[in-house]
Amino acid sequence: MRQRWFSSPDDAAERLRAAGYLADTATATTTFLTGALEKPLLLEGPAGVGKTELAKAVARACGADLVRLQCYEGLDEARALYEWNYKKQLLRIQAAGGDQDWSSTHDDIFDEEFLLTRPLLTAIRREEPTVLLIDEVDKTDVEVEGLLLEVLSDFQVTIPELGTITATCRPFVVLTSNATRELSEAVKRRCLYLHLDYPDLEREREIVMGQVPEVDEAVARQVVEVVGRLRDLDLKKAPSIAETIDWARTLVALEIGDLDEAAVVATLGAVLKHASDLDKAVRELKAHRRTR
Ligand SMILES: Nc1ncnc2c1ncn2[C@@H]1O[C@H](COP(=O)(O)OP(=O)(O)O)[C@@H](O)[C@H]1O
Ligand SMILES: [Mg+2]
Repeated sequence: MRQRWFSSPDDAAERLRAAGYLADTATATTTFLTGALEKPLLLEGPAGVGKTELAKAVARACGADLVRLQCYEGLDEARALYEWNYKKQLLRIQAAGGDQDWSSTHDDIFDEEFLLTRPLLTAIRREEPTVLLIDEVDKTDVEVEGLLLEVLSDFQVTIPELGTITATCRPFVVLTSNATRELSEAVKRRCLYLHLDYPDLEREREIVMGQVPEVDEAVARQVVEVVGRLRDLDLKKAPSIAETIDWARTLVALEIGDLDEAAVVATLGAVLKHASDLDKAVRELKAHRRTR
C-alpha cells in the first residue's frame, strides 16, 4: 500500500520527534493511521497538551503545508468554505452595462475569477500535500459541524454555481477540541479519535529540554515535578505544557539554578494566572515541604 504520510507507527514517532514533537505510543499509532486510512483525526483534551502542535508537527515532518481553520463563535460558511466576491461581481455587471443579457452575465460572474476561497475549500483544491487543521471545533455553533460533514466524509465541497469539487490529493485532516461541548455524533462517526492528556513526568521533562535547551536538567526535573503536583490540586486552570515551558524559560532568564520555595513563589506567575490558584498553590506547596 502506498503511504503518503507515515510508513508505520514507529516511523511516525521518529519523524515527529525530528520535527520537535514527542509522541507517546498511542499518539504515534493514531497519527500513522490517520494518514494510512485517510480519515480525519479528532483530537480532544484539555488546553495546552499539544493538540494544535501535533497538526503543525505532522506538516513539518512530511514537508506539507498547513491550512488552518480557526473556529470561533459565529464562524459561517463564508469564512469556512468560500464566498463570492460581491464587489467584483458588481463591477463586472456595471462594466457589461446593458449590452449583455442576464444569463450570460450570470455565467460570467459566477466564475472562478469571482470566488474567494476559504480554508476548507483551499485545502480540498490543493494539489500538494496538505495538513488541514480545523482548530477548536467546540467553539463554533453546532450548525457549522453540518458544513464540515461533506469535507470530512467525501473530501469534497459543493458550490451550487460551479459544481462539486473533489480533492485530488486528500489532506491530512486534524480537528481539535477542548471538549467544552460534545460534538455531534455525525462528526465523530467520520473521524478517528484520540484523547490527549498531560504527559508523564519523563516525557514532559524531555519536551521542556527540547524546547528550552539552555535549561539545566535538574531544574527541568524540578519544574515538571512541581507542575505535576499543581495539576493534582483542584485549580481553576491547571498548568499546561506551554506553561511548563514558559516556567523553564523564566528560570533560565533569571539564572535560577535551584527551584527552592523562594524561587517558586517569585516565579509562579509564569504558570498560574488566577489569584486564587496562586494562593492555593503556595499554601499547598508549603504544606508539602513541611511534611517531607
Ligand atoms: N508532545 C509534545 N512535544 C513537543 N512539544 C509539545 C508537545 N505537547 C505540547 N508541546 C508544547 O506545548 C505547547 C502548547 O501546545 P498546543 O498544541 O498549543 O496545545 P493545545 O492545542 O492542546 O491547547 C506547544 O506550543 C508545544 O511547544
Ligand atoms: Mg490549540
